[in-house]
Amino acid sequence: MSKARQQWKSRAGFILAASGSAIGLGNIVFFSANAYKFGAGAFYLPYLIALLAVGVPVMMVEFGLGREKGTSFPLALGRIGGRAGEFAGWFAVVNALMITMYYIAILGWAVGMWWSALAGDLWAETSVAVPAFDVPEGALPNAIASFFDLISSPRNIIFVVFVWLLNIGLVSRGTKTIEGAVKVMVPMIWLIMVGFIIQGLSQPGGVHGVFLLFTPDFSVMGDINVWHGAFAQIFFTLSLGFGIMTAYASYLPKKSDHTTNAVVVSMMNCSFEMIAGFAVFSLLFAFTVTPKASTLSMMFFIMPAAIAELGAAAKLTGAVFFTLLLLAGLSSSISLIEAAVSAVIDKFKTRRVTTVLAVSLVGIAGSVMFALPMVIDGGLDSNGTLGLTILDLIDHYAFGYGLIIVGLVECLIVGWGLPVEKLRATLNSSSSIQLGRWFDIMIKFVVPAILIFVLGYSLLTDVFDVGKEATPGLYGADYVMKGFDALDVIAPVVWLVMTLGIGAALALTPGHKGADGE
Ligand code: PFF
Repeated sequence: MSKARQQWKSRAGFILAASGSAIGLGNIVFFSANAYKFGAGAFYLPYLIALLAVGVPVMMVEFGLGREKGTSFPLALGRIGGRAGEFAGWFAVVNALMITMYYIAILGWAVGMWWSALAGDLWAETSVAVPAFDVPEGALPNAIASFFDLISSPRNIIFVVFVWLLNIGLVSRGTKTIEGAVKVMVPMIWLIMVGFIIQGLSQPGGVHGVFLLFTPDFSVMGDINVWHGAFAQIFFTLSLGFGIMTAYASYLPKKSDHTTNAVVVSMMNCSFEMIAGFAVFSLLFAFTVTPKASTLSMMFFIMPAAIAELGAAAKLTGAVFFTLLLLAGLSSSISLIEAAVSAVIDKFKTRRVTTVLAVSLVGIAGSVMFALPMVIDGGLDSNGTLGLTILDLIDHYAFGYGLIIVGLVECLIVGWGLPVEKLRATLNSSSSIQLGRWFDIMIKFVVPAILIFVLGYSLLTDVFDVGKEATPGLYGADYVMKGFDALDVIAPVVWLVMTLGIGAALALTPGHKGADGE
């Protein structure tokens, strides 16, 4: 007899967990960076269209799959598409694990910067020296100097491992620990964000930032990059294509209203993203600091530079800002670890503790791989950002291609294989919102067509340099190392070998067909 599958204690617990997964680093800094880059207010429209045309329907598919099959992502797809379906599911889990590796490395750096904020380095008269880079005291702006000092010092690794340990603690008992954590973390994230909005808007000139956000520059609407950016971002921000939402939904009772859940979670995520835009734009514009289209520079250079202008309030505000990033990031990273852990447990019937530790060990090794090069040789080629370059490249493939490929494949498998009419009937049987035939058309034709466009355009950009400058990676570091051209080839090869190889190995290894217990 297998143990009963773990379950969320309440629907609110599930909604908080799913929205905690969705609300992450992407919402706080990347949305604003993208909005600024893509014509400020004009970005809202493609973004909303992406949300309604792709985001909400795909979230319904991922929730519906968890409900229909009562198991995690690879096995759920496997029950529809056989070995090939299961392979697609494992591809998703491995791809997502690679994203988590650098995501957690970045969270480790957020802890490091939190420390620098409290210690005062970020707001000092003269910036710290960075010996590994031969940078003397006072030579760089505070935030940049502190960041490079951090990533070239051994404490970098300590912080990254520390964030992993936090994650292990939070997923150790599955839904029990996760639900307890998100009930505290998610409301705190919202509260802190409201505080930032009030603070930003009360700065002289701050409100002009918001005006800019709402002054659309419609000339950019004809720019294919804007649409591409919006569709790619919607996957990342809603945590779709990771296998997370299916795992989380499989922990709910069969009769749950997943159509409404998908609408609520998507709306919570996207409204948070938009109000985060208020906070970021008002603060940056109050102090005429220009946003950048890279999450790393927004988090570690641009926002701290604006916060530094707050004078006496800078220290506390800075610490609260990095706390916000950490809380939002943790409630996302735990969801991904849980998705991987539940996939392994469902297939191999392993013990939870062992599985959490095994997945985490692989994850720690990966995160350290992004963090270690800069500690070993900060001055490498007098530009010690090898780890950041690897991060940028892996992000480019795992985020730019991996998530979208998963989205496309899952729509095809569910749309044509299940088929979607059946999924819709199941969803409708317990929902207050009734989906019409339009939903079938979306999942079978419209979403796949859009995703093929996104993938095709990314390929064109990569192979023929079409619009290259306009589409940086999500984390696009500004300090990307030059002269390591081989990495441009090694990175996609490593990404492909890992996702396809490990994905295939896991799909082909005999195991259970689908667990009801855990
Ligand atoms: N939705 C998250 C965000 O916007 O930051 C993305 C995410 C990243 C989810 C990493 C889960 C994860 F492990």
